[in-house]
Amino acid sequence: MTKDRKLIIAGNWKMNKSVAEASDLVTTLKRDLANVKEVDLVVCPPFTALSDVSRVILDSNIRLGAQNMSEHGNGAYTGEISAQMLKEFSVRYVILGHSERRQYQAESDELISRKAHAAHAAALKPIVCIGETLEQRESGQMEAVLATQLKGSLAGLSHQQMEETVLAYEPVWAIGTGKTATTEQAQSAHAFIRGVLATLFDETVARRVRIQYGGSVKANNARELMEQPDVDGALVGGAALEARSFTEIVTNSI
Ligand code: 13P
Repeated sequence: MTKDRKLIIAGNWKMNKSVAEASDLVTTLKRDLANVKEVDLVVCPPFTALSDVSRVILDSNIRLGAQNMSEHGNGAYTGEISAQMLKEFSVRYVILGHSERRQYQAESDELISRKAHAAHAAALKPIVCIGETLEQRESGQMEAVLATQLKGSLAGLSHQQMEETVLAYEPVWAIGTGKTATTEQAQSAHAFIRGVLATLFDETVARRVRIQYGGSVKANNARELMEQPDVDGALVGGAALEARSFTEIVTNSI
């Protein structure tokens, strides 16, 4: 399948995998995905495994992502990890504003936007997550929620920074539930998001930004999702924890 935008498929391992398990997983992925050129491949292990995973994927087609970072530079912020620290492990991407962080760590759009600026200042590419809850969808607020999240989380980014930002549309009701958005639901949300980007930035930026879908992506639904004109990749949770399912998602998407 051909699209102007290169697909980007990322595995968000969340709070899973020991260092040894992470190394094993990425060693298998490196072998099994070695010939993939059509898709940008990213793995996002927990912080504790970044160092070892980074060493395994050196000289491979797999890039490293982190799951979060501080909005601050180095300093007195106990328990936080800065962009500079991530750079030491050749991290290229950082997931920001995942719904689990919005929910459990009360991350706001304003905070996510500060983190996005800090990421760009360090030449890290943010993967900014947005998505509505079931309640919001069912009460007809989906578009308003997405528009607010986009406006707040992307505030103040230059056009160039926005083009180097990846968005992930992750409907909260589809995360870890086995309920995938239908292809029509995914496509219509992605098209809406692209429309908002055109308003916030311009048509060119909107055309260039890659928008991933996330939420119960599996080997058996990846292809139909990736075939949607405005779906440019996937942010995969559960199915990224095993080499075989992640590899199948990638190969089924090409
Ligand atoms: P699942 O693929 O497990 O639904 O998780 C999606 C997700 O939250 C990726 O960031």
